[in-house]
Amino acid sequence: MSTSYSYLERLETIVKAHEEWRLGECLNLIPSENRSSPYSRSFYLRDPGNRYTSPDKFYRGTKYLDEIVSLTEDIARRVFNARYADVRPLSGHIADFAILASLTRSGDKVASISPDDGGYPGISHLGLGKILGLKNLYFPFSSSSFNINAKEARAMIKTEKPTVSFFGSSFILFPHPVRDISEDSESIFVYDGSHVLGLIAGGQFQDPLREGCSFLIGSTHKSFPGPQGGIILSNNRELFERVSSMVFPGIIDNFHINRVASLAVSLLEMLEFGKPYARSVVQNAQALAKALEDNGVRVKCRDIGYTKSHQVILDYDKSKISIFAQRLEQANIIIDNGGRIGVSEITRLGFGQNEMEVVAELIGMVINAKKPLDFVTKRVRSLVKDFQEPKYVLKNLQAESRS
Ligand SMILES: Cc1ncc(COP(=O)(O)O)c(C=O)c1O
Repeated sequence: MSTSYSYLERLETIVKAHEEWRLGECLNLIPSENRSSPYSRSFYLRDPGNRYTSPDKFYRGTKYLDEIVSLTEDIARRVFNARYADVRPLSGHIADFAILASLTRSGDKVASISPDDGGYPGISHLGLGKILGLKNLYFPFSSSSFNINAKEARAMIKTEKPTVSFFGSSFILFPHPVRDISEDSESIFVYDGSHVLGLIAGGQFQDPLREGCSFLIGSTHKSFPGPQGGIILSNNRELFERVSSMVFPGIIDNFHINRVASLAVSLLEMLEFGKPYARSVVQNAQALAKALEDNGVRVKCRDIGYTKSHQVILDYDKSKISIFAQRLEQANIIIDNGGRIGVSEITRLGFGQNEMEVVAELIGMVINAKKPLDFVTKRVRSLVKDFQEPKYVLKNLQAESRS
């Protein structure tokens, strides 16, 4: 066999093993992930993924490609009730980059939640703040309410005058006090809804564009069950144009039009089924948190109802959490090393509140070392085998017309 074919054989084997394990045998509880529908994924393989188009009309042959993009933006505007949408960002981080690169200059102040309080490190002094020469300021944060301290944050904005202020974070349990902070405050308010975009699309959690934010940006693949990508939404024409005109040619050239077509399907699924999906995600997260505590597992924010998002956060110190995450992985239960447990993907696969009791029992068995890991692994395998197909999806028109 030639070298190429032996590499190919290895590649096939690795990808197959990954899929058999993560899809067929694991409980996927990473809150940054989800399962897009086969119909949405089918658009990945189609010809737009081989093509270029750009706003300056440099390429010819783009009439249908441009229609795909404007159709997708039209659907996005509907889903999020926004006047302007840009679906070109390749990820949530790139959407953050577009915002900061176009609205700030080196030396400007930018406020957000500190990475120490669960804020996104990508926009902090460790990430874009450093790259763009910004001065990062962090909102006062209350660990008991797991939220920004609104009164102190308003005062901070008044004194420090940050050019841009971000809501939204990576560890997010409760809506942020957007209205309280943004009202009569002078800053451009941006909601980084990377984690909670699917909840916002389904009318849960909060509604940043109507609470005082000029932008809602985010990833399209975390609680929003679409292809990996990013989106920028706004009702403010002047600010949106400043950002959008920087996206091309400054930040993204080829924006993967197959991904955009795939996103259109996911957006339509959310237009149809977003409300029941988002409601079930939040109900499942709350049920899981309660059941975890019933199984002797400590969860953050018990006194204030645990969560209103897709996340539940374990309440142990960092070193314990990473030992738990490692042990859970050995039992085919996949969480992250920050102790976040996400229920978006399993909700999408049809898990309801009864299954949350089972999931909590299995996690409890591992964390409290009540059963051998291979006992739990077997139970996980048998649980997930009945939940393999995403729900809340549209019928595949192509497949229908063939049958
Ligand atoms: C709040 C927040 N914003 C942005 C991102 C980056 O998202 P993406 O992976 O789509 O670039 C993350 C990643 O987890 C995040 O938590």
